[in-house]
Amino acid sequence: MVRAIEENMPTERAEPTHFGYRAVPLEEKQALVDDVFHAVARRYDLMNDLMSAGLHRAWKDALVSKLRPPKGEREFRLLDVAGGTGDVAIRVIEAGGRGVAATIADVNGEMLAVGRERAANAGLAGRIEYIEANAEALPFPAKHFDAVTIAFGIRNVPRIEAALSEMYRVLKPGGHFLCLEFSAVDVPGLDALYDLYSFHVVPEIGRLVVGDSEPYRYLVESIRRFPDRESFAGMMRKSGFSRVAATPLTGGMVALHSGWRL
Ligand SMILES: C[S@@+](CC[C@H](N)C(=O)[O-])C[C@H]1O[C@@H](n2cnc3c(N)ncnc32)[C@H](O)[C@@H]1O
Repeated sequence: MVRAIEENMPTERAEPTHFGYRAVPLEEKQALVDDVFHAVARRYDLMNDLMSAGLHRAWKDALVSKLRPPKGEREFRLLDVAGGTGDVAIRVIEAGGRGVAATIADVNGEMLAVGRERAANAGLAGRIEYIEANAEALPFPAKHFDAVTIAFGIRNVPRIEAALSEMYRVLKPGGHFLCLEFSAVDVPGLDALYDLYSFHVVPEIGRLVVGDSEPYRYLVESIRRFPDRESFAGMMRKSGFSRVAATPLTGGMVALHSGWRL
């Protein structure tokens, strides 16, 4: 389905962006990304475990440890952007006290629907709200959230700077922004192995589990196109964040980017 849409679309408008390695008009990228996540929503959590050999759990745990949600009754409202099926929001709530609540904003209603079922099964329905929204135009007032997170979501957003500015806008002064994203492997030897795995094994797992390798080929390609740690730190600073830092995880496979609204 992804390929069918791509073949039918014009490619010569202004502001081209990339869908995987392919240049597409900027305004078309979101529809293609939505297509990918509609296709995988029901199997998304299983695929996450299979594709990362469970490592995504450790990466998300690193984010939660860095966030340090309060343990007591103190009210603490998290916004998890591109929150999908709610993996990060659930972890933050479970790590914190009774005052912790989360809003998940995601552009894809199908991913949110899976997330709602998950939260209900975990007995957390009352502490998570689900909002269908685009990261580039968040429907929340300024200075509203104690923390904002985005995990493996920012590389899918066509206008990264717009999303960073929006996440900064809705964060309270003193609030923490954390972003988990795939990064550049910087351990000699591991990079070649990682390429082999990403380009050959991951799409094949996609074909076997979801019935289509194309969504996962896109996901792998989009990882290679994402700005390096320094460039992304620059984009965060430009959006207003202070004390910007990045921690490479698993040999640089993933980076945990951190910034504050001061
Ligand atoms: C790889 S999933 C990550 C889900 C979740 N954060 C996790 O780590 O398991 C990427 C998510 O980004 C969402 N997404 C893509 N573009 C978006 C946008 N412009 N605004 C909000 N969410 C978006 C997709 O719908 C999808 O749920």
